[in-house]
Amino acid sequence: MTVDLTRPTGPFRYGDRVQLTGPKGRLHTITLREKGELHTHHGVLRHAQLVGLPDGSVVTGSGGHEYLALRPLLRDFVMSMPRGAAIVYPKDAAQILASADIFPGATVVEAGVGSGALSLWLLRAIGATGRLVSFERREEFAEVARANVETYLGTPPANWEVVVGDLVESLPGAVAPASVDRVVLDMLAPWECIDAVADALTPGGVVLCYVATATQLSRVAEFIRGTGLFTDPEANETMVRGWHVEGLAVRPDHRMVAHTGFLLTARRLAPGAVPPDVRKRALKKPSYADEDVEIWTPGAVGDREITDKNLRKRVREAQRIADGARIAAATETDAATD
Ligand SMILES: C[S@@+](CC[C@H](N)C(=O)[O-])C[C@H]1O[C@@H](n2cnc3c(N)ncnc32)[C@H](O)[C@@H]1O
Repeated sequence: MTVDLTRPTGPFRYGDRVQLTGPKGRLHTITLREKGELHTHHGVLRHAQLVGLPDGSVVTGSGGHEYLALRPLLRDFVMSMPRGAAIVYPKDAAQILASADIFPGATVVEAGVGSGALSLWLLRAIGATGRLVSFERREEFAEVARANVETYLGTPPANWEVVVGDLVESLPGAVAPASVDRVVLDMLAPWECIDAVADALTPGGVVLCYVATATQLSRVAEFIRGTGLFTDPEANETMVRGWHVEGLAVRPDHRMVAHTGFLLTARRLAPGAVPPDVRKRALKKPSYADEDVEIWTPGAVGDREITDKNLRKRVREAQRIADGARIAAATETDAATD
């Protein structure tokens, strides 16, 4: 089924997701349903009060409290959706789309899918004519991601495939050799996947690795360089500092998210090609022993692992929200055909 990747516009309708900012800036995200109600300790707000109003309206609940109603932006949605694994933050997603040159119609491979945050940005960038194949080795994470994507888009898009399995084992069976335009790796040990990625990428294609620590960055850069199959890797990180802008008080915010991860990109060379600068200097072998590999455990690189119990809770939460969105969308379709 072709999914409409454009955002709904115009007055609020049943089926829309709406973010309400209530007293003291408290956020509530609802999907508008016939007879739906938001209950808080400030009173009740009926969903019907919103239907027909323009985006950005203010409505008053039964307790006299006002709520600002806006359709959430994608960045609002990904920051508030249930998470199994840590997500790619919007600032990094934006850089990934630009650095990896994700374009409409592209065939893109992503691993791991985690909570599906990056999948949503990629799906938007490739559009209806592109294809996204997302790999995830943990079934529960794949379920959270599917539910989140379904909640946001209303239905899972036909041009998105989630493969449950390790990328190295599953990639050759899922895509033809040299057929993939872009590969984005967000995982603990991307170097383990580089050989499989090199086979899948089309000449000139881009691989982008998103890693949290400098040790991972160094390891994956040296691995890529050592294959001789890619251009020399380029790395950067993005820091976004908010500013307080009010009257004469114009200054950087006191707090910021200072570090999320590093981006590393490289392009697949044509078979047999050796760039002139590489010919000049001998290829260095990566200087990592097997024992070093043991060091890259989730705990050692500071990756907090979610407990199984907590993860099952997140799966249920994501599926409950997706079910709610599905019911609301069905209500809207029924109302439209009545
Ligand atoms: C940080 S999360 C990805 C978050 C995701 N990009 C997002 O924005 O929601 C990393 C994920 O990679 C998965 N993973 C790690 N190595 C993998 C591999 N070789 N193949 C498939 N998935 C892998 C993990 O299970 C985990 O869910």
